[in-house]
Formats: sequence, structure tokens, C-alpha cells
Amino acid sequence: MATIVGGLTTSHVPSIGGAIARGRQQDPYWKPFFDGFLPVREWLADVKPDIAVVFYNDHGLNFFLDKMPTFAIGAAPRYSNADEGWGLPTLPPFDGVPELSWHLINHLVEAEFDVTTCQDMLVDHAFALPLKLFWPQERCPVLTVPICINTVQFPLPSAKRCVALGRAVGEALRSWDDPRRVVVIGTGGLSHQLDGERAGFINKPFDLKFMDSLIHDPEWATQFSIHELVEKTGTQGVELLMWLAARAAVPGRVRAVHTNYHIPISNTAAGMMAMAAID
Ligand code: DHB
Ligand code: FE
Repeated sequence: MATIVGGLTTSHVPSIGGAIARGRQQDPYWKPFFDGFLPVREWLADVKPDIAVVFYNDHGLNFFLDKMPTFAIGAAPRYSNADEGWGLPTLPPFDGVPELSWHLINHLVEAEFDVTTCQDMLVDHAFALPLKLFWPQERCPVLTVPICINTVQFPLPSAKRCVALGRAVGEALRSWDDPRRVVVIGTGGLSHQLDGERAGFINKPFDLKFMDSLIHDPEWATQFSIHELVEKTGTQGVELLMWLAARAAVPGRVRAVHTNYHIPISNTAAGMMAMAAID
């Protein structure tokens, strides 16, 4: 049985990559954001995960409007970063763990999630940047499984459905006959809207309530429809679905190891949470 050590969630604004590449972590603009990751790296050094299962949303790189799976899982030996260009200049590929990918896929399909399986999958900033933030070394030291949730083209899966997906991933991890240690990551959000009349929209009270709910009432956000979530968090704020799935994959209660919330990074309310599994 694999051990789930906990969950990590973070925003994934592409300009973070540019800041890393230019060594701007200590600039007044960036410091409050990057400093949030220091205690989390200490926790990771302590709990030593071998594998990261990453819920993220592709932004039109690997999937485009012509073919848009609702849920997709990587089952590749490695994943190359091929971003839009304003993030990190080059990154070595991320190593996959196909035997876990296929275990997850088998379990999910049996649990009636009709996932798209990807034996070849390019990953964008939503996958690459959070891994770089949690593990800043040259090559990411953990093996990875990307799980992509559509937030680009309507209809999007409901918050309730994403929680169910996360829960099924957690069950699959616990039924995996392997002693390795797994951390579950969710990337996206928090409140932001990049275009249209509400460009720049941020909802701090909602974000803070949402972050708190992941610790104390992880299904709180499932009361909202997708359109209500867009209304409350912005068109891209709905990326918080990844946080819901990641939290749901960690069974039972969690303890907040560290949380950070900073406005703005780009047009985005940048949030980060590290949650240790208790049960
Ligand atoms: C920004 C935020 C995102 O989540 C994203 O995917 C792209 C850009 C931004 O705030 O700039
Ligand atoms: Fe995004």
C-alpha cells in the first residue's frame, strides 16, 4: 500500500517562471510569494515523497478546442514542458511512473470515470511551475503522474465531480501494492480573471473561506455550480477545481503545515497550502 503523505496546492501564474529565471525571488514584488514555499520545502524534506500526483489544467497546449477531454491522465515515462514562452526558459523533462498511472487508470475506469489516457503528453506551466516551486533543484527529484481537468472549454466538470475524482484517486493510491510515498498536488486559482469586463477581478473573502474549508470542511465548495464559482472567483479562478480534487485524494483529516495568500501576482490572487495527512 502506498502512503499518502498529504496535499499541496498552489497558483501557477506563468510569470513566476520568468521571475525564477531572472533570480527575482527576493524582489519586493515577489518575496511575499516565494517566501511562502520555504517552510513547505522543509516539510517535504521531512516527509520525503517519492511521487507527486498532480491535478492541473492544461491551457491549450496538449489539448485544444478541437479535442478537449474532461479528465485526462498521463501514462508516459516522461513529460516535457513546452509552455507558451513567458515562463522558465528550459526545463528537463519530468519523469513519469507508468505503473502507477495504469493502476490509477484501471481503478478510475472501474469506478466509472471515463478518463482519457495519454501515453504522450506535453505539460505546461500549470504542471511545471508548481513542481519547480516545491523542488527548486535542477531536475525534479520526484516521479510524477499528471491528471488534467478541463477548465478551458465549457461544459466543465462540477466541483462535486472533481471531489469524487479526487476521492477515487485517493482510493486507488491506497490500493496500490507498492510502498512508495505519494504527495498529491493541485495547481490553479485562486480568484482571477484574465479577460473581459471583469479582467483583474479578485475575491479575497471567498478565497480565504475556500482555503479554510479545505482543512475543516473539504466539501464546502461543492454547494456551488460552475457558473456560481466563475461568478465568485473569475473565469480562471475556477481552476480551484484542482485544489478540490487534490484535497479529496487525501483521505480523512489534514493538518495545515503552512498556508500563504498574496495579492497580486500578475492579475491573480496567489494562494498556497501544504496539508499533512493525519488519518
Ligand atoms: C495567469 C494566471 C493563470 O492561471 C494562467 O494560467 C495564465 C496567466 C496570470 O495571472 O497572468
Ligand atoms: Fe491557469
